Amino acid sequence: MHPNLRTHEGFESLAGFDEVTFKSYINNKLQGCDKHIDFIKKNLIDDRYKGHVLEFGSGNGKLLFRLEKEGMLEQGVGYDLSESRNKFTKKFGESLGSKKVTSIHGDFLSIDPSSHKFDLLIGVDIVTQLIPPVSGDAERNLFNAIKNTLKNGGWLLLELQDFANIINMAQLAGGVLRQWKEFHESDPWRYGLDAFSVQGRDIKWKKTFIHRTSLAKTSSSTEILRAYTRDEIRELLTGIGLSDVRFYDHWQEPGDVDSGEYIVVARNKG
Ligand SMILES: C[S@@+](CC[C@H](N)C(=O)[O-])C[C@H]1O[C@@H](n2cnc3c(N)ncnc32)[C@H](O)[C@@H]1O
Repeated sequence: MHPNLRTHEGFESLAGFDEVTFKSYINNKLQGCDKHIDFIKKNLIDDRYKGHVLEFGSGNGKLLFRLEKEGMLEQGVGYDLSESRNKFTKKFGESLGSKKVTSIHGDFLSIDPSSHKFDLLIGVDIVTQLIPPVSGDAERNLFNAIKNTLKNGGWLLLELQDFANIINMAQLAGGVLRQWKEFHESDPWRYGLDAFSVQGRDIKWKKTFIHRTSLAKTSSSTEILRAYTRDEIRELLTGIGLSDVRFYDHWQEPGDVDSGEYIVVARNKG
């Protein structure tokens, strides 16, 4: 099995939370969506928006739940490959009394092309770059699925990482770049060690996590990500017939995305 199909298995496992840490964690995640909500309100909501939203790689579902809380959702569908995250999402929804979000444990590429169409299709936090490396036709299938899922007039919202600095730094470091990071205190993991190396058009990203209460307890996973420049994404999106392709350097204010990340929106004008 390609490693990208199980990168987030075990993430947000409910066994790692008690009632108090679960509440604090989900509140923190909902709050982290302020910037997305602000951006969507400012740039994507118009008279044609009826609140049907699909998010692929929806993780714990925080953005769909937050859209529901804001009254910006009529129907929300989240697809995620990770079973542990899907269970987390269901509990997240129950604890909020969510009525409008359906969480699907499955591959976005398996969506029926003739299924319901959406006003807004979201792929944030580099999920769009996890799918193409999986197989020779995955990139084409992904962009076709995007086109097939959008209503006429529907918006696409993606967050991507160009990896330009990572590629340079990995080369300077002799092939592998290693970086430490520290997580928020509500996270069961305290530290993360990222190791990046370049493989043709793709970046191999090995993540190691160190537990908050037991430093000896570690977990690791590897992802392969397709690096896209803005020009490459524009070409892919116009290639499937989307228009009004626009790029943004941040959601709400400078610095609210990681270095090298950018946001792209495009519209299906039919
Ligand atoms: C980097 S996480 C982003 C999660 C969420 N969007 C967020 O902002 O927190 C990427 C997620 O995409 C999911 N994923 C990767 N490939 C997928 C696919 N083909 N279909 C559905 N989900 C996928 C992974 O399981 C993972 O939870």
